[in-house]
Amino acid sequence: MKRIRYISSFAKPMTQADIQNIAEQAQQYNKEHGITGMLVASGTLFFQIIEGPEGTIDSLYSNIERDPRHTNVLLLSSESGDIDRICPDWSMHKIDLSLMEQEKVAPIKVLLQMVFTQSQLVENAINALERYAWGEFISIDATE
Ligand SMILES: Cc1cc2nc3c(=O)[nH]c(=O)nc-3n(C[C@H](O)[C@H](O)[C@H](O)COP(=O)(O)O)c2cc1C
Repeated sequence: MKRIRYISSFAKPMTQADIQNIAEQAQQYNKEHGITGMLVASGTLFFQIIEGPEGTIDSLYSNIERDPRHTNVLLLSSESGDIDRICPDWSMHKIDLSLMEQEKVAPIKVLLQMVFTQSQLVENAINALERYAWGEFISIDATE
């Protein structure tokens, strides 16, 4: 079993029907491949959990990463081994926050935005490390 959580941003504004289409496409494939999870759409962001057999999740996630309907796909967590499903009964449960009472979902939207912003900062910092810091260490090693 493997479970991945990620957050991403819409590539362009999405209607409720666009989000529904993604959920329906996902549900059909996931049902046939033992995948469960949830997909949250929040204004400009997606948050998704996908869980199922390891190889199936790896290949689905690489499809999802390349999907032009969203961008900045940031991995939040990846767990595998002897883990239980969080969403055993959902082939892909869609939660479109734009359809819900805004007062109730406001804190969720703020938290998702925080997670996205923080993850992007971390990714940028990691990229900077790769470019500058590791290169620096390697050149120090090379002179020894
Ligand atoms: C936010 C988002 C979530 C998605 N979730 C799933 C999913 O759970 N299951 C699925 O089969 N496809 C999902 N897709 C669609 C895949 O990205 C992709 O279109 C699908 O695997 C078919 O890939 P292919 O066109 O390269 O064959 C999702 C797409 C997006 C944008």
